[in-house]
Amino acid sequence: MKILIVGLGYVGTTLFAAIQSKFKNSYIVGLDKSNILINNFKKYSYPTYEINLKKYFRLKNSNKLNFITKFKDKEKFDYVIICVGTPLNQNKEINNSILFKSIKQVKKNLHKNSLLIIRSSVKVGTMELIKKKFFKKNFCSFAYCPERTIEGNAVKEIMKLPQLIGTEDKISKLKANLFFSKLTKKIINFNSYKEPEFVKLMDNYHRDTKFAFANEISIICDKLGINAKNLIQKANYEFKRNNIPFPGPVGGPCLSKDPYILMNSIKKNNLKTKIYSRDTNENFVNLFINKILREIQLKKNNISKISILGITFKGKPDTNDIRNSTAITIINKIKKKFPKIKIYIYDKFVDNNEIKKLNCLPLKKVEDCFTRFDLCIIHGNNNYIKNLNINKISNKMKKNSIIYDIWNNFNLKNINIEKILYKGVGF
Ligand SMILES: NC(=O)c1ccc[n+]([C@@H]2O[C@H](COP(=O)([O-])OP(=O)(O)OC[C@H]3O[C@@H](n4cnc5c(N)ncnc54)[C@H](O)[C@@H]3O)[C@@H](O)[C@H]2O)c1
Repeated sequence: MKILIVGLGYVGTTLFAAIQSKFKNSYIVGLDKSNILINNFKKYSYPTYEINLKKYFRLKNSNKLNFITKFKDKEKFDYVIICVGTPLNQNKEINNSILFKSIKQVKKNLHKNSLLIIRSSVKVGTMELIKKKFFKKNFCSFAYCPERTIEGNAVKEIMKLPQLIGTEDKISKLKANLFFSKLTKKIINFNSYKEPEFVKLMDNYHRDTKFAFANEISIICDKLGINAKNLIQKANYEFKRNNIPFPGPVGGPCLSKDPYILMNSIKKNNLKTKIYSRDTNENFVNLFINKILREIQLKKNNISKISILGITFKGKPDTNDIRNSTAITIINKIKKKFPKIKIYIYDKFVDNNEIKKLNCLPLKKVEDCFTRFDLCIIHGNNNYIKNLNINKISNKMKKNSIIYDIWNNFNLKNINIEKILYKGVGF
């Protein structure tokens, strides 16, 4: 089999890793328009952090793999999988231009027996539009098979999670099932494209809503002076019907985008629905930022530098992804209001160059976030942060310093409250 994966970002890279470990005798090509990314691939350096990613790539048979930025000829492939980005524009509407451009480019690489798989997240009805826009009837086979994995553990999940397959004819269904059955034992078939397009967006809207509920609770607790995390822990204890998550920042490339894409799907029928989860999750972070801004204001010109610990959009599992991370919102708001304050960052998984691109200064060690800072913001909930000896480490801070922890990672009794204030939302 000849397989082409288009777009080697977070999704394409992990899918490539999974496919090349299961399709031993196939010829697999990864196509990405970024020269830097392709050169890095050739040096075994990948855009996404995942604990065993390099191990999967070590299984490779290099004669059968290729990474390119463009095609020299019209080489044909049996399977073409599109994994390019589908970002929102400023009006929170999906921008399909990257997706459509990539399809136009690889159309020449399809033959009549090929299967074109769209893996990017799209608004409901996009697959139908793609067929009308780019392909005459029966040009080749088509399937919509969305990515549902979690960043940081994607390769394992590709092989474990049920794969959604949306097709509208028997041959496409057969080919898509043959392909994905090599990757996972569980397949859920839909006889339309629309349904899996919808399910993908619904998954993320649901997660966003679950977190928004916890954040709403935390905002109420904040007003009442009750510790939200303790409350939720006790409410969940041996009462499985609850299963309420802990409050925390919700950003990232998917949850901050997909609820809007779902709403985009129905806008043309004038059925606008409000996305409460996004409003609540954004309010939660704003409440946190406003507390910090007020504190800086109170201390007048006494604060010249701030440290931030953890800037990725989530910490479980670990990722290096800072796209749409709420840490960036926090950084931008501080910089806007207090342009003279220097922001120092430590994140175990983020490259120093990415930190410099944010106009911030990288710190070498996690301890450095506390040493001689008046104000430390904890934005991560990774294990390397949760497992810190906060009692010992916070002693390195100046007297009357403040730790703002958006995750309430630590128990107040482990903090030297004579010396340090420990604050957040809802505790
Ligand atoms: N990040 C996730 O974990 C995740 C999870 C589920 C679904 N998704 C969805 O999957 C899609 C891809 O997400 P991502 O995070 O991997 O995006 P990404 O931006 O990290 O990667 C996309 C890659 O496509 C490349 N590209 C763009 N146009 C191209 C072209 N014409 N030809 C070749 N390469 C091209 C880019 O250079 C980039 O490397 C999005 O629709 C996203 O919503 C993402």
